[in-house]
Amino acid sequence: MARYAHITGWGMSVPSHVLTNDELARTVGTTNEWIVERTGIRERRVASPQQTTASLATDAALKALAAAGLSPRQVQLIIVATSSPEHIFPATACLVQDRIGAASAGAFDLSAACTGFVYALSVASQMIQTGAYENALVIGAETLSRIVNWKDRATCVLFGDGAGAVVLQSSSRPGGVLAFSMHSDGSGGDLLSLPAGGSRMPATHETIDQGLHFVSMNGREVYRFATRVMATATREVLAKAGYVLGEVDLIIPHQANQRIIEAAAKQLRLSMDRFFVNVDRYGNTSTASIPIAICEAFAAGRLHVGDRVVLVGFGAGLTWGAALLHWVAHAPVPAARWRLSGRFIFRAMAWLRSVLRRLSRRIGAFLFGERGDSGQP
Ligand code: ACO
Repeated sequence: MARYAHITGWGMSVPSHVLTNDELARTVGTTNEWIVERTGIRERRVASPQQTTASLATDAALKALAAAGLSPRQVQLIIVATSSPEHIFPATACLVQDRIGAASAGAFDLSAACTGFVYALSVASQMIQTGAYENALVIGAETLSRIVNWKDRATCVLFGDGAGAVVLQSSSRPGGVLAFSMHSDGSGGDLLSLPAGGSRMPATHETIDQGLHFVSMNGREVYRFATRVMATATREVLAKAGYVLGEVDLIIPHQANQRIIEAAAKQLRLSMDRFFVNVDRYGNTSTASIPIAICEAFAAGRLHVGDRVVLVGFGAGLTWGAALLHWVAHAPVPAARWRLSGRFIFRAMAWLRSVLRRLSRRIGAFLFGERGDSGQP
């Protein structure tokens, strides 16, 4: 029997702190007019010192699970697409797994920059369609404010923090993720990168003095690349599934720049009302931009049962790709109080579970020393 991978739950989490263009213009040589005219961005969210990529991802994940009516213990796979992971390792996905108490889930991070969510959704949908898994949590999460140089006006005006998550579940009902495309061109890797902090250029006093731990970008080249691939990836994914542009109800593009989205619309000969855009309020949240836009598109009444939706992204790597969805999910049951308190209970139980596991590991180490034959994984 054919198996399909449907989105059954979705959730987002953005920091409450709003940083407007005018506020930015007080600290770096820019103006609200320049930013709005060149990018369409008016404000972005910035994480508090307590918020991290994993904490935003955890919030979004628990909301998506509540919407899908799935308990964290039932989750089988967690993929976190991120360009600003908490660490090189362990994976941010493992931190999320621990914090939500997804005791039986596999978890890994996926690095494909702003295309990461499309890549992760494609991987997870295949895991489900092959029968390997019944469900997966796919998250895009970022605290780009931590890796942006706030003195560099060419980049700091562009990015923002946030997370979005979806639950994918197996079903025999046709629909869900119908097709996807993933592409890369590593010859353009230097156009958008975080030069230091990896094995090629480990952290030293010099790398820090030279600001090499911040996002470095050739904006003009990235712009040229982006306007080219958004339209080709959209056409390609439709052709793969045997659809034409006229059958698409909504395009949810990576929210990097209003002008890039307008250029893609022009190339596809589609009016802008077929696109969902919220870049004005969040800036570029990299991997989180598409799942946040899914949440907001649904809340705004732009996503309906039966709609065909294209998700399309591009980013560092260079990477680009698209996914075609047949949307069949109804509105989740309104956030009843038990669901909200359920999120709190899941968090508390996960915390307790994590503490107990750490404790039992210590006791095991004490009792069995370095032989480590306590039998605990
Ligand atoms: N405020 C005022 N002036 C600025 C600013 C600013 N924030 N930033 C740059 N300028 C100046 C430049 O110094 C330059 O001045 P000059 O002509 O005196 O040298 C002038 O504005 C024009 O600069 P350009 O870089 O040519 O400006 P452009 O019109 O290309 O816009 C932008 C820049 C917005 C960055 C654009 O190139 C762009 O959107 N590129 C794509 C970026 C992107 O999407 N990145 C994310 C990819 S996804 C991912 O993986 C993270």
